[in-house]
Amino acid sequence: MSGPVVAIVVAAGSGVRLGGTGPKALRHLAGRPLVCWAVDALAAGGVRSAVVVVAAGLEADFEAVLGSALIPVTAVVGGATRQESVARGLATLPDDGQVVLVHDAARPLVPVEVVRRVVDAVRSGALAVTPVVPVTDTIRQLSPDQTSAVVDRSRLRAVQTPQGFDRDTLVQAHAGLHDEVTDDVAACEAIGVPVTLVAGSREALKITEPFDLIVAQALLSTRGGPG
Ligand code: CTP
Ligand code: MG
Repeated sequence: MSGPVVAIVVAAGSGVRLGGTGPKALRHLAGRPLVCWAVDALAAGGVRSAVVVVAAGLEADFEAVLGSALIPVTAVVGGATRQESVARGLATLPDDGQVVLVHDAARPLVPVEVVRRVVDAVRSGALAVTPVVPVTDTIRQLSPDQTSAVVDRSRLRAVQTPQGFDRDTLVQAHAGLHDEVTDDVAACEAIGVPVTLVAGSREALKITEPFDLIVAQALLSTRGGPG
């Protein structure tokens, strides 16, 4: 798969679990909005341009802060679910990108090696790629009667973004969706496309709760600069 790599960065959530005011993607980490960190991390990994999907009425706010990003970014309005937001981003991607990454604005510190691994896998022919990390907690699965049983942790992986796709495959997966899925490789799997796993990184953590911002801040203090 050749041609430029383009990205959809979903940022239309409200960030209820993080709390505070304003959309989560515009909250600052070391003086920069999370969405700027996320876009520049993708740019460092070779992404040429990005569509950022935002809540209605915030297009101008996002485009203003993203004027300082390393690549051109346009803002489009998202939907009520992450899945809908990705679909809207997909509908407005520039025509020339055959390799498409879908990334959460809420994962600002994804390392460049992870982005490159995802892109390389798609370029090598994989149709749907996701970074994953091992699960470190011991997990117990609850039954309806509230009894529980331990799950074999060695066979579990936690899924991250950016996920990478052959563009036509991602378009077909979204066109065929009936049920709610939580990510885009699951949408591809639902139409029978095999999912390729590559190594993710703990540094690609998702900012969900206030604790995660503290961790991200600590991580940044160990780095020389963005990416
Ligand atoms: N997202 C989106 N459109 C939605 C819901 C989520 O673009 N309708 C995006 C978020 O902006 C985020 C990513 O999907 O970058 C992952 O979602 P999550 O971490 O759950 O973010 P929020 O939905 O904003 O947070 P919360 O669930 O705490 O409200
Ligand atoms: Mg959410």
